[in-house]
Amino acid sequence: MAVNTRKRSAFNVFKSSNATKDCLFGIASNPSIAAAVSEYEEQRKLMKTSKQHRRGSLSSVVREAKDENPSTPPYNIKQAKRSNTCKSEPRLNSLRKSFKRKKNEQQKETVAISSGAKGVQQKLQSSTSASMLLDSDETNMQSAKLLASSSTFGNNRSSMYHVQVSSTESLQSLDDNVTKNEFIQPDEAIAWLIKPVDTTKFFKEVWEKKPLLLKRRQTKYNDGWFSTKEFDDILREKDVKYGMNLDITKYVNGKRETLNPTGRAYPAVVWDFYQQGCSIRMLNPQAFSRSVWKLTSILQEYFGSFVGANMYLTPPGSQGFAPHYDDIEAFIIQLEGKKRWKLYTPRNVTEVLPRFSSCNFSEHEIGEPIFDKVLEPGDCMYFPRGYIHQANTLDESHSLHITLSVYQRTSWGDFLEKLLPQALQVAMEEDVDFRRGLPIGYLKHVGVCKAEKASAERSEFLKKIQQLIMKLANFAPVDAAADEMSVGMIQDMLPPLFTADELMCTVHGNGAFWDNGCVRGEANIQPESEVRLIKPNCIRLTCDSEGGMIYHAIENSRSYHETPAQMINISAEEIEATQCIIDSYPSYVTVKDIPLKTVEKKVNFLTLLYNHGVIRTKLPLIQDSMV
Ligand SMILES: [Fe+2]
Repeated sequence: MAVNTRKRSAFNVFKSSNATKDCLFGIASNPSIAAAVSEYEEQRKLMKTSKQHRRGSLSSVVREAKDENPSTPPYNIKQAKRSNTCKSEPRLNSLRKSFKRKKNEQQKETVAISSGAKGVQQKLQSSTSASMLLDSDETNMQSAKLLASSSTFGNNRSSMYHVQVSSTESLQSLDDNVTKNEFIQPDEAIAWLIKPVDTTKFFKEVWEKKPLLLKRRQTKYNDGWFSTKEFDDILREKDVKYGMNLDITKYVNGKRETLNPTGRAYPAVVWDFYQQGCSIRMLNPQAFSRSVWKLTSILQEYFGSFVGANMYLTPPGSQGFAPHYDDIEAFIIQLEGKKRWKLYTPRNVTEVLPRFSSCNFSEHEIGEPIFDKVLEPGDCMYFPRGYIHQANTLDESHSLHITLSVYQRTSWGDFLEKLLPQALQVAMEEDVDFRRGLPIGYLKHVGVCKAEKASAERSEFLKKIQQLIMKLANFAPVDAAADEMSVGMIQDMLPPLFTADELMCTVHGNGAFWDNGCVRGEANIQPESEVRLIKPNCIRLTCDSEGGMIYHAIENSRSYHETPAQMINISAEEIEATQCIIDSYPSYVTVKDIPLKTVEKKVNFLTLLYNHGVIRTKLPLIQDSMV
């Protein structure tokens, strides 16, 4: 018999949607997630402290995106609090057991992750050897001819992958099932983007290391994602605003100008600027174009983080931007016309994989290009953050391309920026060594003006600092920091674009509808229904003292951060039920598999998730629903 929980769940949905609860991080339901945070809870109980809450003040980084790189939005991490109290004793006991099982693993993990960060630094510093390996391994690239160019950067040699598909092999190598607009899976999207380079090889040898040029010799390869005609239609039909959505720019005689009027960008005015030799940059075409939204949203499923896009339309014989570098991994997709690109290696070690974009450079500041080539329709180019670039159109042709921006501030350092303040807070509460007073008169021996003056007291002070920093790793709540990183990314992300099948099996396209004066097609989760997450990377489960929170990007806006963080409050007993659904993906689970006590609770809980659009059913709840 069907259990009708629609009204109750609708109320819950309303209640959850209006929750004003702070972003809390703490005990998580996954045993591995629980381990790190449970440690504090366990020790806190043992110490019989009267303190009820532990709140962590995490660093907040707010930076306005530089004018040169508006596709990479300001990274706004909201201040987060964490609490390690839990009102649910059964849940706490469960987490304690998890903690005991995982304690040793957690300690090992902490050390391993510390080593990992160090390893990445070493890897970056040894990019010389990676480049040489690439150069000597060119024949491994399938269906492509590799041409490596090189230049010098400091003592390092940096190469560039140049993949040129010959006209005779292009059809054979590219004419397969990974074609534009047809893929729906994240791994297919990345394969399409860097084709014919193998994905594994790309991330091993190119990603964050060196630029890659893909000359495909197939002019229609990138067709379908965007066009100047679609841009014109958007200007006529949508409320496109200067500054917010569109920039008019010009770079002449070493001077870069932004010529934005105010208000709406009417097509007649925009095209007049274009006729005057100005470049047009659309800052978020994914907000207006369904196909760009599709490409970016599927790719962000692959990368597990926000993927932005900029559109650049440049008239013949002009340049819109000064030489600069960006703080994102860039993929240039050439759609129409031609554009001549020049790339330059990072100028010094501080500009390798930079955290922030550069200012505009003049020609004498950037040295000689390592690359000077013309991109044509069907081509793609990738270059890591920190590579200086500039581009201009030739006299005979305009240019339209889209730049995809990936992995802004997603580095080990960014993770540690979240982790270390929490680790220090825990250490100060748990270990008296962090609470002992500084040596009397220590300021006589340390400080900028004391740095050159050696003394026994100074040496002892520095030694103690080193000891405490090493000890700090033992208190690092790695999983809580990962949750914070994930929640921030989910807030950044585009909403997913659903397939027809997904629409039919979710609240997004299935359910009651108005038909000839009455409502038909009431859809209810049944005890025999099978469900799973609709998109695994759009959802993050976190827990706090009062229950759990499911953060999701399902209801995010296509305009960056236009909507607040989307979350669903769940009870302590529903945490395990949520974990069951997460762990089962991509398999479906039946209602009876959900670890809640009664069928009614199971159905109510799944209805709550269904009504928020975060789960789908295996089959449509009603067959004749109008999508
Ligand atoms: Fe750029």
